Amino acid sequence: MPRPQKHVFVCNQARPAGHPRSSCTEKGCKTVSDEIFRQWQERNLFGQIAVTASGCLGPCNIGPSVLIYPDNVMYGPVTVEDVTEIFEKHLIGNEVVERLQAPADIW
Ligand code: FES
Repeated sequence: MPRPQKHVFVCNQARPAGHPRSSCTEKGCKTVSDEIFRQWQERNLFGQIAVTASGCLGPCNIGPSVLIYPDNVMYGPVTVEDVTEIFEKHLIGNEVVERLQAPADIW
């Protein structure tokens, strides 16, 4: 297996209803996650980019959260409509999508 150039973690954490931290699942991360996996496959990026559905990444209040390493960039809240831009601008173009970046006091 080739070593990926970037690794995308997509929070898929769920919590019981009424939990004080809520969760990315409650905020719709499943559709974001599905679209990231769909575009990853469609663009045939398996050798260059790794994608992992993860547990909580930390900043639940800005979820759905997406974290990209080694760039150490946290995005949130991410919607399905944002996924194409994350692929084309960041994952392929190596440019951070600043409008989706978590505020500096969060990440
Ligand atoms: S539940 Fe997604 S970042 Fe915490």
